[in-house]
Amino acid sequence: MAAQASRISLTGIKPTGEPHLGNYVGAIKPALELVRDYESVYFIADYHALTTIRDPKLLGHYTRSVAAGWLAAGLDPDRTTFYRQSDVPEIFELTWVLSCLTGKGLMNRAHAYKAARDANREAGIDEDAGINMGLYSYPILMAVDILINESDVVPVGKDQVQHVEIAADIAGSFNHVYGTRFRFKIPAAVIPQGETGQTLPGIDGRKMSKSYGNTIPLFAPEKQLRKLVRSIPTDSTPVEAPKDPDSSLVFQLLVHFASPEIIADTRRELLAGGFGWGALKDRLATVLDDQLAPMRERYNALMAPDSELDEVLTTGAEKARKRTTSMLHQVRQAIGI
Ligand code: TRP
Repeated sequence: MAAQASRISLTGIKPTGEPHLGNYVGAIKPALELVRDYESVYFIADYHALTTIRDPKLLGHYTRSVAAGWLAAGLDPDRTTFYRQSDVPEIFELTWVLSCLTGKGLMNRAHAYKAARDANREAGIDEDAGINMGLYSYPILMAVDILINESDVVPVGKDQVQHVEIAADIAGSFNHVYGTRFRFKIPAAVIPQGETGQTLPGIDGRKMSKSYGNTIPLFAPEKQLRKLVRSIPTDSTPVEAPKDPDSSLVFQLLVHFASPEIIADTRRELLAGGFGWGALKDRLATVLDDQLAPMRERYNALMAPDSELDEVLTTGAEKARKRTTSMLHQVRQAIGI
């Protein structure tokens, strides 16, 4: 369908850690699925990461790691516009323009700022202690990412939906003032459900997240992968006893990665008894390693200092700037600059 083919899916990935299995299931895979039906624009939001990461080496490392991770996971830079936010200066110019059209009250209501402010109030200290303007204006920069690319859909986690709504609000404010001269497209958030419609649990059973320290890195060497899988807690049901697959964390992880046949066989074996937790963990580790080994190899190659990674990102930025320079030109004309 021609109309569908020109609709744009955009998302930003904040480089604040190395990619883990939860990112893969919850963000990378669903975003790569959208590439089939949408024109896709995906980027590394390194200036967003600056609100929290102050170690230059680490910021550089996470930026490369996340970019290499998406490429290793199957992002095709010929099909998807893939760039580093900091390589596209028009984004920052438009950030000022849209800052001038954004009510301060709208930023006061943004979740991340509100949470930081409320924590300060609770602690009885100055309500703005430790809060930088980057954190405060974060939603404006994100709105620009979205609007400058004329995005239709923005696949994000639940925690980012409010930011996409703010982007729609800011677009509305601009359109209200300048709408006869230029109009931004109004974006909508989509929350990818993943294949089983749930988020991936981490090795302690809570949602897999860097902030809980319960992640399995996507590109961990096989030995570390096996060690992490072995560390997942199980109960003391003896090997011979029948086991309930659905209350097993190891089984839940298996379901996300194994083939339907392996899942069905494993379910049967657990219910029948005689299949122990150790064997189940070995099976999960093998399934994971089978899937991840080729990706890990590609990731390691891209992470080498002289790999084609930087070139891929430079080419991506050139592609992105075709869109952003023409957009900025129209905005400047509309506002009289
Ligand atoms: N704020 C997003 C996050 O923390 C990252 C991001 C930056 C983003 N710009 C974006 C996501 C634009 C979607 C669209 O995950």
